[in-house]
Amino acid sequence: MSKKEAIQPLTAYFQRENIRNVVILTDENVNRLYPDYFSGLQEFCQLDHYVLPAGESSKSIETAVKIWDYLAEKQYDRNVFLLNFGGGMVCDLGGFVASTYKRGIRFANHPTTLLAMIDAAVGGKTGINLQYLKNGVGTFYFPDIQLPVDISLLKTLPDEELRSGFGELVKYALIGSEELFQKLCQLDSIEHLEPDFLTFCVDFKQNVVKKDPKDTGLRHILNFGHTIGHAIESYGAEKGTPIAHGLAVAQGLYYESLLSTKLGLLPQNEWQQIAAFLPKHFQIMTLTEEILSKLVVFMQNDKKNSDNLINFTLLDHLGHATPNFQIPISEIQTYLLMTRPSTLDPKP
Ligand code: GLY
Repeated sequence: MSKKEAIQPLTAYFQRENIRNVVILTDENVNRLYPDYFSGLQEFCQLDHYVLPAGESSKSIETAVKIWDYLAEKQYDRNVFLLNFGGGMVCDLGGFVASTYKRGIRFANHPTTLLAMIDAAVGGKTGINLQYLKNGVGTFYFPDIQLPVDISLLKTLPDEELRSGFGELVKYALIGSEELFQKLCQLDSIEHLEPDFLTFCVDFKQNVVKKDPKDTGLRHILNFGHTIGHAIESYGAEKGTPIAHGLAVAQGLYYESLLSTKLGLLPQNEWQQIAAFLPKHFQIMTLTEEILSKLVVFMQNDKKNSDNLINFTLLDHLGHATPNFQIPISEIQTYLLMTRPSTLDPKP
């Protein structure tokens, strides 16, 4: 897709809605790599830029205040349009600012990372972090136009970030399409992703979100791999060796697939395919007693869980998941202790 094609839906939308003022919210890395990406819009509207320091630390209330102040100083009214151009941080923060400035302005996301293309930019979850709580404050607020993904932007994405997004992409295959899973198994390199793979993820998420926009039940299937994945992310952060979100989720996919089989849901031959595939692309840590007990504490602290029961989405087949199983901690410990990535036999 050319840059022109990527922005065409926006130009049509701005003309139709008579939008005159557009603020592009981006970070310094994206701004350096793609300073003129939206220059074609100048024919149709007045463009302004707000460039953030790159990194998760910008996703804060202090930054939100700075952007609110900037918009107010520039005397933008409720007809200003916010265009978020960046990764998950820019999309989450920008969505939050859009949902709150003057009680809500129109906005869209144009994501530049794989993770944001298939997750953060879709589905209307906005947010900022509190000091110790990721997405501690946020809103449900949906983009006014869902833009097509420009996969060429991934050419400049660092390898670790691409692999992290690939972890989320594998999740969609496991919960939504055996066919996509088989295609991913044939991939020679994650640099050769097909646009169709991303389209599947975006469509799948949009369908789920349409049925459960406020995340009360069905939408939890999007959390497959995340119960253990988030615990692994917290464990890495506590040890001082942070693990990228999608790389932790990939390990969560491995262990939650294993759990699905041990609990008698996922057929063993399907588990074996997953167990053969994931370690080809991701490092999967062995869960020693010490690591597992720490992961369990992180899972217990998660607000979705009670003391003895942990909420999981589980696979019942390759390409199909069911949300909201309450699994006792003792079973998690029994089934996952000392599992090694090479262990293909899931029998307890
Ligand atoms: N990232 C999961 C969701 O949007 O519900």
